Amino acid sequence: MSDILVSDEGSVRIIRINRPEKKNALTLPMYTAMADAIGAATKADAVRCLMLAGSPTAFCAGNDIGDFIAMAQSGALGQPILDFLYALVRSEKPVVAAVNGNAVGVGTTMLLHCDYVVAGTGAKLSTPFVGLGLVPEAASSLVAPRLMGQARAFALLVMGQALSAAEAREAGIVNALCDPGETDATALAAAQRIAALPAQGVLLSRRLMRGAPDEIIARIDEEAEAFKARLKSPEAQAAFMAFMSRKK
Ligand code: COA
Repeated sequence: MSDILVSDEGSVRIIRINRPEKKNALTLPMYTAMADAIGAATKADAVRCLMLAGSPTAFCAGNDIGDFIAMAQSGALGQPILDFLYALVRSEKPVVAAVNGNAVGVGTTMLLHCDYVVAGTGAKLSTPFVGLGLVPEAASSLVAPRLMGQARAFALLVMGQALSAAEAREAGIVNALCDPGETDATALAAAQRIAALPAQGVLLSRRLMRGAPDEIIARIDEEAEAFKARLKSPEAQAAFMAFMSRKK
């Protein structure tokens, strides 16, 4: 079965990360599949809202660490990662997310670009970039301080302090909490409420609220340059090797 599942529930397009055996860590082909699905939804009039979802026990464990090692060796940050981030930021359709379990790294930073986030009470959001020898990505260095204030963004992005679902809601990056068994249904209901609104009103309101994406795209690119350099750092190499060879 595919690692990214795309399906429609009425006018809601659901993009589900489906690699539970690896806690939904994202490989380059998975980023490409998600970017393509978002791009196609933007062009499809029948799609009025997107929903990002994961598995019952994991939303997304971030980038696949094996891919990070390969990228460090090749010296290039995978273009599919950037293509996914650009597609998410440029999406003209509202994006709802349903989060259960761990959302790590890009699993958390992608949420900062969503319009409505539902989290199961056991969800945990974390961005261990700096501890891994890396820097924040997905324009989180720009967007997180705006959304949650500098102090909370520093604790999350630099100190790597995880947020529980309740803390994420308190910080303003999660809209609603629910029982973990209800997360997908709650998010889908929210997506359907959005989809039922006048489409042009939603489109224009969203554009007004978000402004032009240029600044965010520029920050994604700026972070990517620093990220690429950090991937090769001794700290990052040591962290990746420690993860790959850890004993359970
Ligand atoms: N890249 C590659 N494989 C990953 C992964 C990742 N980012 N995250 C998890 N996996 C794999 C594990 O290696 C393990 O594979 P195995 O069964 O073949 O050994 C499997 O997924 C299950 O992970 P496990 O760690 O046993 O699950 P857990 O419930 O104990 O912990 C996490 C879940 C998400 C907390 C933990 O896997 C983790 O910290 N992952 C790394 C997250 C990360 O640093 N991402 C990069 C951020 S920039």
